[in-house]
Parts: sequence; C-alpha cells; structure tokens
Amino acid sequence: MQQIVGGSMATKHSKDLDPAPASRAAPTPEADAVTPGADAVPTPGARAVTTPGADAAAARLRRVSAAVARLADERIDYRFKGLPPDADGDTVGALAAARRSLFTGGFTTPVLALSAESVEHNVRLMETYAQRHRLAFAPHGKTSMAPRLFEQQLAHGAWGITAALPSHVRVYRAFGIQRIFLANEVVDPAALRWLAAELTADPDFRLICYVDSVRGVELMDAALRAAGTGRPIDVVVELGAGAGARTGARTEAECFAIADAVAEVGTLRLVGVAGYEGEVPKADDASVRAWLRQLIALVAEFDRAGRFGADPSEIVVSAGGSAWFDAVAEVFAEVPELSGPVLKLLRSGAYVSHDDGHYRELTPFNRVPDEGALQPAFRLWTQVISRPTAEQAFINAGKRDAAYDLHLPMPQVVRDARTGEIRPAAGITLTGLSDQHGWLHTEPGTRLEVGDWVGLGLSHPCTSFDKWQLIPLVESDGTVTDLIRTFF
Ligand SMILES: Cc1ncc(COP(=O)(O)O)c(C=O)c1O
Repeated sequence: MQQIVGGSMATKHSKDLDPAPASRAAPTPEADAVTPGADAVPTPGARAVTTPGADAAAARLRRVSAAVARLADERIDYRFKGLPPDADGDTVGALAAARRSLFTGGFTTPVLALSAESVEHNVRLMETYAQRHRLAFAPHGKTSMAPRLFEQQLAHGAWGITAALPSHVRVYRAFGIQRIFLANEVVDPAALRWLAAELTADPDFRLICYVDSVRGVELMDAALRAAGTGRPIDVVVELGAGAGARTGARTEAECFAIADAVAEVGTLRLVGVAGYEGEVPKADDASVRAWLRQLIALVAEFDRAGRFGADPSEIVVSAGGSAWFDAVAEVFAEVPELSGPVLKLLRSGAYVSHDDGHYRELTPFNRVPDEGALQPAFRLWTQVISRPTAEQAFINAGKRDAAYDLHLPMPQVVRDARTGEIRPAAGITLTGLSDQHGWLHTEPGTRLEVGDWVGLGLSHPCTSFDKWQLIPLVESDGTVTDLIRTFF
C-alpha cells in the first residue's frame, strides 16, 4: 500500500495515493540501481523523504532491471533488420558497448532510430507532469512493447504499466512487472486460467482489469472458479466514452448492474471505475471534460452506495491517453473525498516517443506550453535507390517499415552520400508508400542522388514500434548506445 502524502498541489479534501514512489536513478542491472527515497517526492523540488513505498518501488524496479539486463545476451542475426551484418553472432550488449555510428558503423538501410535524449526527456517530462498534478502513472505499454522502456518509465516514477491484452500481460510478467492495469475486459477462459495461476503464485502481483458487462462478469467468474483462483481479480467498471464510442457500459444504470454482478461473485473485487476519453466521438475540450466528469460522478455514486465495501484500502479512477491528459489532470483534481484513498491513474503511452504528425498536433502541451513540450524521438533512415526522373526518387522503405495509418512519413533531412553532410530535406515530399518503397516527389533543382540517405519523421508511435524488433537507441551525434527489443 502506498503512503498517503501531502503536498502543495493536494486538494484539501481528497485523499490521493502517493503517485510516484519509484526511483529516478538510472537503472543498471546488477548494481543497486535505485536510491530509495529519492522519489518519494510529491512535488518537484520538495525534499526527498524515504518511505516504505519508495523501498517497495525500488525492489519492484530491481526485479524488472534484472530481467531486462538479460536482453543484452541475445545474439544479433538475420532476424533483426537494419543491424550491421558484421555484428552477426555478437550479443546485443556487445553491439551496444561498441558505440558504433548509425551512419558509418555498418548499419544497413532502412533502419529505425530512436533518440536516446528525446526518450529520456519525454519520460522525465511526464514523470514531472504526473507528480505536479498528483496523478499516478501507468503508461500504456502497448505503444512500445519494449521492456527496456518500461524499466525506464518505472525508474521515473511509473506506478505500473498498462496492457491491452493478456498476451501483453504475459510479456510484462516475463520481465518481472508487478503492477499491471489491463484496460480491457478479458473473457477468454484460457487467458483467465493463466492470470489466476499467476495471481495465486505471486502474492505481490497486482492486476487491475476492466469489466464492461454483466455477461463478462459471468464469464470471468466461471473461468476463474474453474481455475480455482487463489484470490480475486481487482476490477474497474469501464464507462463508455459516450454514444457511438468503443467499449464500456453506456449508462450509469448499466454500470451499477455490472457492479452488482461483481458483488455477487467471489472471484472479482470491485476497486474503481475507468474509461478512455480518447474514444469520445468527435472529441473536443468540452465533450472530453463532460465525459470525465461523468466518470468521477460514477465513482462518487459507487462509493456513496457502498460498492467498494465499508473501508476500501484504495479506490481507482483511471483515464488518459496522450491527447487529453491536461483535461484528465484538471477534472481528476475535482474528485471529491471518498471513503478510501484514491489512486488516480493516468495511462498515456504514445508520449514515450511522441511523433512528427498525429501527436504533434494533438499533444496537450500545445495548450499548456508552460508545462513543457514532448520531443519526437523517431527517425527512419532510408536510402535513395532510384532517381528515374528529375521529379521522382524512390527510397528503400515502405509500409513494412513506417507508420502510415494516420499520416504518411515526412522527409526531414538528407544525409549526403558523398560528404556525410546532413541538410534539411527541402523540396522533397513523400507522396506514397508501396510495401518496400517510398515514393518521393522532388521540386525542380532539388539536390538528391542515388545513395543519399533520407531521414523521415513518422506519425503514430504505436504503428512505428511494431514494425521493428530491435531498434537502435541513438545519441544526437549518431552514436548507437543501446538496442531496444520489442515484443509484438
Ligand atoms: C484504453 C486506452 N488507454 C490508454 C491509451 C493510451 O493512449 P495514447 O496512445 O494516446 O497514449 C489507449 C490507446 O489506444 C487506450 O486504448
């Protein structure tokens, strides 16, 4: 159980759980990577205080760090596109330690690069943001499916990691993650059997899962009873984000019926409410805030009606992707006093790499620039393999390599094959993608030759990460310092 902490941003009447007890120390696998206490800081700048919560977070982080460290033993080979063929047989750890250049160190195009500085900046920024607004943070892990980034997020104060599927939970558990928020109803008996076994085997594993229907509750209960679960699964009722939205119960009456169904079974325990404002149809500031207010009204109603029991140890309210966390922070600050401490859980995922398209337009930091700015961390390096006309060029990356579901990639820079000079990609537009080709249009007089590298900005982190299994983490001068393994 987390400490309840005070702080200048705390509302007088709401009992918030300490949102960020983990360590800010850079995790190193073997060493005692964390400084307990350095993070039990409710507001940035406040004096560090050691708390049992911080010690527990440090222990959780050590477990993840140890598992992530083992990724360094994996061998480089043909499975991982873009990596140097002459590194075949080397371990990931050895390749990272070699600090090769992305441009001259034998990497082959196309190759996706993730900026080490930008990822660190983004992770720190959201840690600070969550602390300032007294939110706990369970970044959505489906964005990257990269345990090495989960470790970084946990090291920077994340409460736990959000999952969309039981298969995600399996990956997270394989890397020692102890707190998982599963933002979907699970009605697959085989998956529930596995979850029950995992919960029974590890008393420290905390799982919170959506329920959004009475039928769902019945199916979960039947599967969990058949599995002989050792303890109930904590559930939150999902409130749909309005008419025409995605999952989630549509009315308060339906939410109460689901809560009643949960109360009747011994295999589930109601701990709160949740939803996803990113699915509010035609979302704007007013409609998102109106829906968020419905969500906090629901939790207050549940609490008044005793649906969380007589003396709940924790009441969970969760929402928030990467487009509306400013509204979430403001509306969650209005949660009234409830009968137990409230865990206000934000679940942004895309922020970790941010992007050059969709999220660049939608980021809440456009509305609250005083609170910071995320940095786009991806650049897809491609090579011109054909320049058949003065207006046309073709690069060797296509739909297999780049996100294209929201916007096409954007040429940003050219690395001249003759000189190594990097210049802005002025006059170059990407007009289409084939499976393995990118179609470039060039304006008259544009300098671009076969052999030049073209660096693309991408739109949509989730569909960028999933096309790459081992992604070079690159410093601003092009030095590769690590490789990020993804598990999709
Ligand atoms: C339920 C849920 N929560 C949180 C998120 C994270 O949102 P974002 O990708 O904007 O960071 C998503 C993203 O799809 C989601 O579906």
